[in-house]
Amino acid sequence: MDTFVSLCKRRGFVFQSSEIYGGLGGFWDYGPLGVELKNNIKRSWWRAMVQERDDVVGIETSIIMNPRVWEASGHVQTFTDPMVDCKQCKHRFRTHDLKPNEKDELRCPDCGGELTDSRMFNLMFKTFVGPVADEASVAYLRPETAQGMFVNFENVLTTMRRKLPFGIAQIGRSFRNEITPGNFIFRDLEFEQMEMEFFVMPGADEEWHDRWIESRVGWWTDTLGVRKENLQVREHAKEELSHYSKRTVDIEYDFPFAGFAEIEGIANRTDFDLKQHEEHAGRTLRYFDEASGQQIIPYVIEPAMGVDRCFLTVLIDGYAEEEVRGEKRTLLRLKPELAPIKAAVLPLSRNEQLVPPARRVSDLLRPHFMTQYDDAQSIGRRYRRQDEIGTPYCVTIDFDTLEDEAVTIRERDEMTQARVPIANLVDALREKLGCW
Ligand code: GAP
Repeated sequence: MDTFVSLCKRRGFVFQSSEIYGGLGGFWDYGPLGVELKNNIKRSWWRAMVQERDDVVGIETSIIMNPRVWEASGHVQTFTDPMVDCKQCKHRFRTHDLKPNEKDELRCPDCGGELTDSRMFNLMFKTFVGPVADEASVAYLRPETAQGMFVNFENVLTTMRRKLPFGIAQIGRSFRNEITPGNFIFRDLEFEQMEMEFFVMPGADEEWHDRWIESRVGWWTDTLGVRKENLQVREHAKEELSHYSKRTVDIEYDFPFAGFAEIEGIANRTDFDLKQHEEHAGRTLRYFDEASGQQIIPYVIEPAMGVDRCFLTVLIDGYAEEEVRGEKRTLLRLKPELAPIKAAVLPLSRNEQLVPPARRVSDLLRPHFMTQYDDAQSIGRRYRRQDEIGTPYCVTIDFDTLEDEAVTIRERDEMTQARVPIANLVDALREKLGCW
């Protein structure tokens, strides 16, 4: 994990937030390559969840909402974690994270010291709207994007003329004042979520829930390329269910630091949220079912995931070290769709005859793909650098290029090489990449 975290920093994927001031626990910045990977993950999700479906639309809602939203949703009362402190070393723990015997004996897992009694702690960040910081101006940074979809149910239903079943999707930031942030970007205080609320007829909820579980697992394996053997689907036990859930299934990844842990949750939220908002807002949030002539409150199936955890998953799953001709090479086997750089343009050397055609090839590709031009150090070293950041293709310009107007495309995983005329290069790469 240390090697991996240092690679993330060294190669410009993830930096500690406000690092020059010593950082701030649970907050992270994404570097030039990180932001590309993150955008590619979001684009891939949006394509699968919105673009390719005719029953889901997207929205973007504000982070700070009327605080009554969070009373209605139950977050003010129940979005809490029990925590304990060690009286000796002062370390703080989520009670959930302590093993049963540690809870019973009330001992600190770090130093063996005595623990305080469990206290409930609300995870929502509070702020104030307006110039006066008093109880009347309290607002919250949203702890989930989902409520933005519920409060816009009627707006979307009427403006988009939707019929059940249909979904509303959103990608956006969420904030949780986590007691124990950590494991790199696994548990953050500020993170991004990709959530979709799928509204269905009551009674059709269980079948849709199963369909969404299957579809979401397929996205992780087939679209993102995460290895099946590193994933599992876990059913929540009754006592684990969130206050709104009838059934929840987590997709979990086998992380090297934590074992299997949640990367996506797929919940049956029933009609809980719409009912609560009806009651608290005093508005009817119903759907007119023509077949029965009834006004009904739809049930909701919610696939919800975090972008940052997904980022960590694809990097860890794609990370590999292998030996090539007696030398170690590190590579990221990222799907081309996710790779921050799609093609690197590498002149064989800085020879003055090679640089102009190499620059021309770089100019040719740049409008079509994220590219990187690199002419520093030996070609072998440059291939390794690209392997390490997951670049699927390297385009090499050599002395033959001057004669035949062709270049070599070298593939990352198998290291195979193919000669391609410059005139066909954009199409050839587009075909190999199979994406934008
Ligand atoms: N609307 C439902 C909901 O928010 P959740 O299981 O609390 O459900 C969904 O969160 C996903 O958001 C998780 O599967 C995880 O990927 C991500 N997530 C939650 N808390 C996070 C945190 N503190 N840091 C990073 N990602 C987090």
